[in-house]
Amino acid sequence: MSSESSPSFGLAGVMGWPVNHSRSPLIHGHWIEQYRLRGAYVPLSVKPERLEAALQGLVALGFSGCNLTLPHKVEAMRWVSHVDPLARRIGAINTVVVQSDGTLRGLNTDAYGFLQSLRDADPHWTAKQGPAVVIGAGGASRAVVASLVDEGAQEVRLLNRTDAKALELAAQMGPAVKALPWSQRHEALAGCALLVQTTTQGMHGQPALDLRLDLLPSSALVCDVVYVPLDTPLLSEAKRRGHQVVDGLGMLLNQARPAFEAWFGVRPEITPALRAKVEATL
Ligand code: ATR
Repeated sequence: MSSESSPSFGLAGVMGWPVNHSRSPLIHGHWIEQYRLRGAYVPLSVKPERLEAALQGLVALGFSGCNLTLPHKVEAMRWVSHVDPLARRIGAINTVVVQSDGTLRGLNTDAYGFLQSLRDADPHWTAKQGPAVVIGAGGASRAVVASLVDEGAQEVRLLNRTDAKALELAAQMGPAVKALPWSQRHEALAGCALLVQTTTQGMHGQPALDLRLDLLPSSALVCDVVYVPLDTPLLSEAKRRGHQVVDGLGMLLNQARPAFEAWFGVRPEITPALRAKVEATL
């Protein structure tokens, strides 16, 4: 915990607007209890125009830091004194840590969360196994693509309904990332080792992603970052075809671990009990 905060009571929370849907208080609260820490993790309902004041308030209140959720992840970068290089490349921060000198550091743990969720499913997974296909070019996609590039992926095929956004993201992420036209999404699956779905399609209340899996090699791992519902139409279809699948809960739980460690000094584990507790809210 930072020396700015009380040495005996750790405080953290999640800033969002709205913030009620966030599962983070449940996850971090579970770990505070599990590790018998003296501390609290609270939802912080912060309007966009109050974001700067709220972030500065962390220091005054003795918080160790906070998570950020919609709509603050991009804007908050302006109000912290140091942004980690990976977060800078992703273009968003989801975690703020109050440093011992009272300054704020912004990081993005979504990339870690994504990679770790793949490794939880397959400990031998590497980004070098073959081409990856990433569907979508929004915030979640940026973290996924950056993490694959950092892991040494040789080829990331990026496809987005609005082609221009895929082209723009590919240009920012380096030569391994190739934007392909949305109309080629079915064919783009040929020969790939990993398929990652990062759009809002398949979420509760949304139609299924329009993607045919015929050309996807049976050895390919299929990952959906959507976690409401956990079993998206894409993952059901992939399972039916015999693919190994990774649901969005793994990324959600794993992104919380480095943040918790930075604030509370304990690297927390994801237990079946925690997973069940969060699943019960989905
Ligand atoms: P997030 O931060 O969760 O990634 P986002 O930044 O709003 O959310 O991005 C949403 C993604 O879902 C985008 O890639 C979006 O495609 P566009 O750039 O064309 O908007 C994608 N998306 C939304 N509705 C879609 C649809 N009906 N079909 C395909 N993709 C869709």
